Amino acid sequence: MKRTYIAKALKGKDIDKEILIKGWVRTRRDSKGGFSFIELNDGSCLSNLQIIVDADLDNYQNEVIRLFPGSSISVRGLLVKSQGGGQCVEVKAYEVNVYGFCDPDEYVVGKQRVSFERLREISHLRVRTNTFGAVTRVRNKLAKATHDFFQDLGFYYINTPIITASDCEGAGEMFRVTTLDQADIPRSEGKVDYSQDFFGKESFLTVSGQLGVECFACGLSNAYTFGPTFRAENSNTSRHLAEFWMIEPEMAFADLADDADMAEEYIKYLITTVLDECSEDIDFFNKRIDKSILETLTHVKDSEFIRLSYTDAIDILKKSGQKFEYETNWGSDLQTEHERFLTEKEFKKPVIVTDYPRDIKAFYMKQNDDEKTVAAMDVLVPKIGEIIGGSQREDNLKKLDSRIKEQGMSLEPYWWYRDLRKFGNVPHAGFGLGFERMVQFVTGMDNIRDVIPFPRTPKSAEF
Ligand code: 4AD
Ligand code: MG
Repeated sequence: MKRTYIAKALKGKDIDKEILIKGWVRTRRDSKGGFSFIELNDGSCLSNLQIIVDADLDNYQNEVIRLFPGSSISVRGLLVKSQGGGQCVEVKAYEVNVYGFCDPDEYVVGKQRVSFERLREISHLRVRTNTFGAVTRVRNKLAKATHDFFQDLGFYYINTPIITASDCEGAGEMFRVTTLDQADIPRSEGKVDYSQDFFGKESFLTVSGQLGVECFACGLSNAYTFGPTFRAENSNTSRHLAEFWMIEPEMAFADLADDADMAEEYIKYLITTVLDECSEDIDFFNKRIDKSILETLTHVKDSEFIRLSYTDAIDILKKSGQKFEYETNWGSDLQTEHERFLTEKEFKKPVIVTDYPRDIKAFYMKQNDDEKTVAAMDVLVPKIGEIIGGSQREDNLKKLDSRIKEQGMSLEPYWWYRDLRKFGNVPHAGFGLGFERMVQFVTGMDNIRDVIPFPRTPKSAEF
């Protein structure tokens, strides 16, 4: 007999038919009337399916009453209209087959009210909770919606390399990739001799796929990458991971305004899709995690994002009368507290801040005519702050070169990136959306470590 998933069974189309269900026990209650109720979940949706097991079943005494939360079973039975409230259908079991028992004394996930911090220590099991099941389904939907969005616009999906010799963000916060014997590192003239390393030069895990995807956009017009990126910044915040996923679209023949338009459209598309297709999970987040999440998402989807220059943003912050931990001086980067003030208090909707001071931004951003700012943008959303960072790219080779050198880097590793400006140069622009920050944003989850399957953060890489 073919297995029916609980999401399908709950639709009630197979009523009065015999079905086969498989899953993990969430709870078991025994009634005095000689039967037990089992709440079964198989991950196909948030809801459990109620199974009624009669004490007459052969294995009732030996097995069924030993089924504690976490046990895995299959049930063959009749799908019937439910007698009690709370659910529309339930299964009258003809047969219960146990795959694996689960010791209630040792199984932490089965207990009531386990904290997210505790669950992080058992990331291999936390997906069996309502919250992490819902996060996983929403994350999956956001990934699919991302591909749908860009594919429909004619963008090509490019797999950019994970190991790289160039520092895309120029921030130097990279993890080194090496096969050199750490106990006997070869040196020449006092320095590590990377010519003896695996790639014959220094190499790292990438902080961004942007430089690679730029090459493809400058030939195919539109491309995007969606992959893991790595940052060795020692940021122990609820919005930073050492390994996170990023979606980076890149468009040729486009400027910063085109870039901002696409970012706004993309975010709205993701929200609309999740509201339409993950409504059960979003309702759960709205009830259990953040009571304003539904309202926020609906509002954001329907609002026009504010466009504001960095200079105007600084003005607003200075005049706000708000006490900030960090000062707001023209030239210093916006901190999360500033970003959140703008999007949550001042405008109460997403804000796209543009034209940042060039000295605080990456080398590849196009310099504006004022010679002080670059054609950069950050998209700020409530509760998160920066969710997207992007820019028009510097297409003037001389200016690009001087920026690379200004940042104390050498031109040599960027020879191929510089070639794009020599051969059929075009204006182009793109951005990066932090995937986990987007999952956080739509679920209302407080900590970024709780929206990625196995979080990597300073001093933590278990599993
Ligand atoms: O602003 P960032 O550093 O931009 C880039 O990497 C560009 N190369 C993107 C591009 O233009 N193609 O990072 C982009 C986004 C941020 O806005 C943020 O959402 C996310 O990536 N992000 C992080 N997410 C989790 N943990 C971290 N440590 C993150 N650092 C950045
Ligand atoms: Mg940024």
